[in-house]
Parts: sequence; C-alpha cells; structure tokens
Amino acid sequence: MSATQHIIAVVVVLTTLLGVDGSNGYYQTRVSQCRFSSWDLKDLEYIYSHWFNKVEYLRFNSTVGKYVGYTPHGVYNAERNNNDTAILAQTQAAKERYCRPNAQNEINYILTKKVEPIVKLSLGKASSGGHPAMLVCSAYSFYPKMIKLTWNRDDQEVTGDVVSSEELADGDWYYQIHSHLQFTPKSGEKISCVVEHASLKDPLEITWDSSTPEPERNKIAIGAAGLVLGLIVTAAGFIYYRTKARGRILVPNN
Ligand SMILES: *[C@@H]1O[C@H](CO)[C@@H](O)[C@H](O)[C@H]1NC(C)=O
Ligand SMILES: *[C@@H]1O[C@H](CO)[C@@H](O)[C@H](O)[C@H]1NC(C)=O
Repeated sequence: MSATQHIIAVVVVLTTLLGVDGSNGYYQTRVSQCRFSSWDLKDLEYIYSHWFNKVEYLRFNSTVGKYVGYTPHGVYNAERNNNDTAILAQTQAAKERYCRPNAQNEINYILTKKVEPIVKLSLGKASSGGHPAMLVCSAYSFYPKMIKLTWNRDDQEVTGDVVSSEELADGDWYYQIHSHLQFTPKSGEKISCVVEHASLKDPLEITWDSSTPEPERNKIAIGAAGLVLGLIVTAAGFIYYRTKARGRILVPNN
C-alpha cells in the first residue's frame, strides 16, 4: 500500500468547542465534530455532543439522524429533541452547512499539501552486545505525517534489527523520523534506506557507501597529517643535533 492510500484511511476530525461554562468548577461543554476519511467526502459525518465535566451525556450522529442519551438527563433530552422535528432538521442540516465547506477547505488547503523529506544516512553508535555497526536513516521536514522507511541489504528488505522512532512533530507542521539498522558489515554489500511518502512519485532510495565511511576518512586524514608533522619535527631535531654536534667537534674547547 502506498503512503498516499494510507492518508485516506485516516479519519479526519475537525472539532470545534462550542461553549464551556466553567463557573463553580463544573464544566458544561458542547463539541461539534466533522468526520471523514475519503477525499470526496462521501462518508462525511456530523457528531454533536454535550458533555458535563468528563461525561458525554448527549450525542447527535448525522448518520443515524437522531439524538442518543447516555445518562438519565441525556436520555430525557434526547427524547425531547427527537420529538421535535424542527430541532432534528436543524441539527442534521449542520452537516451540509457547517461540515462540508470546512472539510473541503481542510482538503484543499491542508490535507493535500505535500512537502518532500530531506533524507540523510549516517553512521550511528552501535549498542554494546549487538551487531558492531549501526546506520541511521533520518527523514526531516516532511508533510504530511504518514511515511514509510525500510532498509534493503543487497536489494533484499531487512526486517529484523531495525528500530524506528515515531513520526516526531517539529511543532511547525513538519515531521521527522529516524530508523536505526544494526548490522555486521560484509565487504562488497549494498545497504540502502528506502523512503516512501505522498510527496514522492517513486520511492527514494539512498545507498550507503560502505567502502570508507566519512568519519573513518577524516580520521585517516588527521592521522596522516599528524604523521607528516611528526616526521618534520623529528627531522628538524635531528639536523639541529647533527649541526651542534659537528660544531663541537670542529671547534675544540681548550
Ligand atoms: C454514527 O453512527 C453510525 C451508524 O450507526 C456509526 O457507524 C458511526 O460509527 C457513528 N459515529 C460515531 C462517531 O460514533
Ligand atoms: C416525546 O413524544 C412522545 C409521544 O408524543 C411523548 O409521550 C413523550 O412524553 C415525549 N417526550 C418528551 C421528553 O418530550
């Protein structure tokens, strides 16, 4: 299943808090929800609930077209509202008047927005006791939230030794995710991270260059520079010593 199809499977709930009465520490709340899970809104549903403190005692469900009560007070009010065709018609009408335009706006301006992830593959720190190496595949700044990260080893999907974080909200509508693969390196193998997201036409595959990982290359460069510097200092010291020693021999001290 592609990431695009996943998104449609999610129920979108637009919730509006209609009123809270908090005097005396009691909370009387009314909540409107517009629920849908398809782009064409054919399953659009309006739910209107009354709450007292943490108890929902009365609910209207547009699919049923009636009020239902969950406490004696709720049952009484449900019956009274259901007896009144004007109230029922008015509540039912909110689905078209209030939900449909808001849900359509949500689809047009928010749910269909797609931002491609920035994907990075790096060498992580392997945990002790497990495999000696770890790769981290990170996807940053993508939208929407739904994403799939998988690992391939020589074009075969790896299922074990993979640990992934949740999709983490950056707090600015974007998300990030990190998947960790623990492994024992084999020479000549190809390891890659595959990212599937609604913003990508095809899955994005990033391959790890196992020949010489970046930090190793840096270590070798620093080591080589250190060795050259060491040789220069040693040579300079040796030349200085030889010059001084010869000087002593040439000019006897008596
Ligand atoms: C509304 O009623 C329908 C039909 O009984 C049901 O399938 C649906 O789950 C209800 N919605 C909610 C949010 O309870
Ligand atoms: C609802 O209507 C029925 C039948 O007309 C009536 O017996 C009942 O008392 C009504 N209930 C409320 C809460 O108004």
